[in-house]
Amino acid sequence: MSEHVLYRKYRPQTFADVVGQEHVTLLLQNAIRLNRIAHAYLFSGPRGTGKTTVARLLAKAASCEKPKDGEPCNTCGICKEFSAGTGLDLIEIDAASNRGIDEIRELREAIRLAPSQAKYKIYVIDECHMLTKDAFNALLKTLEEPPAHAIFILATTDKEKVPETIISRTQHYEFRKISMPVIVQRLGKMVKREGITADKDALQLLALFADGGLRDAESMLGQVLSGRDKLTTGDVRLALGAPPEEAVLSFVAALLEKDPAKAARVANEAVDQGIDPQFYLKMIIRNVRHLLLGRLDARMATQVASDMTDAEQQFIKEHCAKASVSQLEQMMKSLIDAYWMSYRTVFPQLPLELAVVDILRDTLGEPKKEEVKEV
Ligand SMILES: Nc1ncnc2c1ncn2[C@@H]1O[C@H](COP(=O)(O)OP(=O)(O)OP(=O)(O)O)[C@@H](O)[C@H]1O
Ligand SMILES: [Mg+2]
Ligand SMILES: [Zn+2]
Repeated sequence: MSEHVLYRKYRPQTFADVVGQEHVTLLLQNAIRLNRIAHAYLFSGPRGTGKTTVARLLAKAASCEKPKDGEPCNTCGICKEFSAGTGLDLIEIDAASNRGIDEIRELREAIRLAPSQAKYKIYVIDECHMLTKDAFNALLKTLEEPPAHAIFILATTDKEKVPETIISRTQHYEFRKISMPVIVQRLGKMVKREGITADKDALQLLALFADGGLRDAESMLGQVLSGRDKLTTGDVRLALGAPPEEAVLSFVAALLEKDPAKAARVANEAVDQGIDPQFYLKMIIRNVRHLLLGRLDARMATQVASDMTDAEQQFIKEHCAKASVSQLEQMMKSLIDAYWMSYRTVFPQLPLELAVVDILRDTLGEPKKEEVKEV
């Protein structure tokens, strides 16, 4: 098997298999069970969170010859054809490459014809925000009076670009980013099924990198797995260009210990080793955030602990009392400035160095920023 298609191999075949979108899947399952299927749906949300997957599941479940509890049976002829992508009554249109009025006109003609095998004729229009204004207008007319056998499922990563008139004609479901523990759990199941052992921290790092998108997490996993029977945190770190935990935590420690020389040195060493400065800053910010949450609310601190690696948890425990909330706040603001600055800097380590100066201004015996401005 080519490792890059890991996420295709594990594409969910039932609603129960979709993770982190229960607010969508439970309602859809219910609609199937009660035979209350709408004529138009809009699925919006971040990339790689299950929109196309759920659109296909909905199409399959609505068409299935003997659905059970709102799930497709996955054994009838229709289910098999839909799963294989050969069902004649499931038509997928990529609006990114079929944006115009002609395509939608064609669709409007075709949709009048009865389905050829299944109960419904189902159109999935992916990336629907790419449609032109004229195409949207043409689509709107069909959405206003759809034939009884038609179901539209529009999917988009950019809801803001979909006209309100279209949205109001659909049942709208917002997909969410998927939380770290849920991604880690899912990746854990996949490696187990592939017969591979993996460090929990390795999976956590992948989840962190994926930033709530399961497809990115799964395809990264596929890439780092290739040819391995064991997955270590080091493998993943190397593949992602992620900073070693030590470089992250000792930078934050230096800030807390008010040691500007150490902080600048650690940052420079890290960047010299070829670590991506943005990823580095993101990891630094992540740990300062954990410190801040730890100071704000003990309960929340326990909650976010499930997102942390063992070394991070240990670090937070040891350092939580070392800075006040307002110090952490100021630290965070400077680091966020540095993060944005890192996209347009002359030298990669410069934003980090400026953040050190800004955060440890007092220690350096420098006047406050406001005083500088007045000079
Ligand atoms: N919520 C989820 N539950 C289980 N698997 C998921 C989920 N989201 C994504 N995946 C995995 O990622 C793959 C791609 O997901 P999908 O194509 O549905 O994402 P999408 O939201 O349509 O992304 P895009 O916005 O880029 O079109 C699926 O085959 C599946 O393996
Ligand atoms: Mg999609
Ligand atoms: Zn079926």
